[in-house]
Amino acid sequence: MVSVDTEVVNDLKSKVNIADLISQYVALSRTGKNYIGLCPFHGEKTPSFNVNAEKGFYHCFGCGRSGDAIEFLKEYNQVGFIDAVKELANFAGVTLDISNDREEKNNPNAPLYEINNQAARLYNILLMSTELGERARDYLAERGITDDVIKRFNIGLAPEENDFIFKNLSNKFDEEVMANSGLFHFSNNRVFDAFTNRIMFPITNEYGQTIGFSGRKWQENDDSKAKYINTSATTIFDKSYELWNLDKAKPTISKRREVYLMEGFMDVIAAHKAGINNVVASMGTALTEKHVRRLKQIAKKFVLVYDGDSAGQNAIYKALNLVGESDVQIVKVPEGLDPDEYSKTYGLTGLSALMETGRIQPIEFLIDFLRPENLANLQVQLDFIEQIAPMIAKLQSITAQDAYIRKLVEILPDFEYNQVEQAVNLRRENMNITDHSVSDYGASNLVENFADERDYSNLDSAIPIDFEEIFYENNIQPQVADRRNEPAQVFQPTIQVPKLSRSERAEEMLLHRMIYHSSVLKKFSQDENFRFVHKRYQDIFEKLLLEAMVYEQIDESHLASELSEDQRSLFYQIISLDLPETASSQEINDLVSIFSNEMEQIKFEELQQQLATAEKAGNKERMLELTLQIINQKKKL
Ligand code: GTP
Ligand code: MN
Repeated sequence: MVSVDTEVVNDLKSKVNIADLISQYVALSRTGKNYIGLCPFHGEKTPSFNVNAEKGFYHCFGCGRSGDAIEFLKEYNQVGFIDAVKELANFAGVTLDISNDREEKNNPNAPLYEINNQAARLYNILLMSTELGERARDYLAERGITDDVIKRFNIGLAPEENDFIFKNLSNKFDEEVMANSGLFHFSNNRVFDAFTNRIMFPITNEYGQTIGFSGRKWQENDDSKAKYINTSATTIFDKSYELWNLDKAKPTISKRREVYLMEGFMDVIAAHKAGINNVVASMGTALTEKHVRRLKQIAKKFVLVYDGDSAGQNAIYKALNLVGESDVQIVKVPEGLDPDEYSKTYGLTGLSALMETGRIQPIEFLIDFLRPENLANLQVQLDFIEQIAPMIAKLQSITAQDAYIRKLVEILPDFEYNQVEQAVNLRRENMNITDHSVSDYGASNLVENFADERDYSNLDSAIPIDFEEIFYENNIQPQVADRRNEPAQVFQPTIQVPKLSRSERAEEMLLHRMIYHSSVLKKFSQDENFRFVHKRYQDIFEKLLLEAMVYEQIDESHLASELSEDQRSLFYQIISLDLPETASSQEINDLVSIFSNEMEQIKFEELQQQLATAEKAGNKERMLELTLQIINQKKKL
């Protein structure tokens, strides 16, 4: 059994800044002491994912997932503890002495990766060292694919014989592995290679393991219908999830927070030759939600560089809906060309210039794409305004709004500037009433979002309003908008925090104080009457007391390891609160009074209910007793 010393792991964790680690996978923005981003574990549009670099943990206020660096790697990469430790060591630049072979054998898919890897190697050898291969390389060279490119993308060739892979690999792998590999066809009890007579593009997953192939026909006399044939779906290959070149593109995407999306292999290769590497291909126009979700984990901005033909333009329109307009830019490849063809006509520098500086905003694309044919018709013009005005209204910059209103006016024969402007303004007002989304309005609305479901007006509370600010402030900080690319809409990180009642917030803050100020914990440990209103907080409090009996200071990661999963998530939420360093006794008293008030209120309501029951039962004596109790209880409120 492979094991790693706890001490080694702790040492490793202390060497790594968790925010640096996580930003390899998730686009993070700084807010005060913490970092926030879109949670990689659940689909979301407003960031709830909080990383605390100082304390070395992450916590998602949306889905509750939380943990330290190791937990993150386990969950994100769906790997076991040992693999996570290895990856962390790798990131920290530390060499660990753990034997490797165990979990390789444990991964049931390992032979499938292996057989595909070996097939890729065979196809590549065939391309590089046979006579047929030489002809195929001529074809590739003609298309600008040099030996360097062949090597980088491990391009190969499937020969005309339909048993090349079978002959070479059948003695090395189980039948079951062969059957599930996607490399063979089975018919009439016979086995054939799935690919013959094609240029082979290996498809790798994000870790660089070969999971399948796409084969392009290349010989002039080949009259097979499909230009490309892909491996059919297997347990390791799901086309709606995989993006070609993601393994090689990932570091650049993470670094630049930006990803280019293209349709095909040849396009990605052209971009690579033009020096742009944060590019992936959806292998056709079928971009899926799964693709988008995984890319959003590492990129903030998507740049769509689809083919200039109508299929490509339709695909852009669909992709806009999937990605969400605010984070997209579009490169329109002119003259119906695809990026690869464009580079043949305008050179590699032409392509890189187009990709870097030829970007337009979604609204500009949409005005063009949705523009109707028969604009002489008044109703058609009105419908078009109806479609576009809300999009203009959503833009954050007034200058941009003005520019697009002008553009519309230019297109529409029967409308003046102020008429279109009015339509936009109308939309804007409607939006203010209906669209109270966090990201649109920033911090001021968050407090409102937080508003308690319950009515506290009958409680005489001693809370200075500052508490609420403390609670929200450090989690929610709208960033200064990056206006470099006007009129782009900007990504505004604001964090989505769960709705808590006032008492719950006070309880969390008090627990936070207890964790970091042993005197506070001590004070309450001596008060036998003290308890939290909500059981989940009381449970954590009790765990804290146990921990404090053994250790002088609460050790966060030790305590976390003692908690159940739900408790741990709550615990991370509590330690995520960013309170001022010092805790005054006034603050502590005020916090307690907030939830002790709630406790008294709950008791009051219980008594009232009991009274109602007694009334129904006609129990006069009990009614009198309860009425007295209620009067007493009322005094406490
Ligand atoms: P070249 O013609 O070699 O330059 O490829 P391309 O990338 O320009 O092809 P195209 O724009 O027609 O298609 C884009 C991508 O869609 C390709 O890279 C393939 O992944 C996919 N594709 C194209 N044709 C087919 C096909 O016939 N079958 C399948 N399954 N996929 C295809
Ligand atoms: Mn092409």
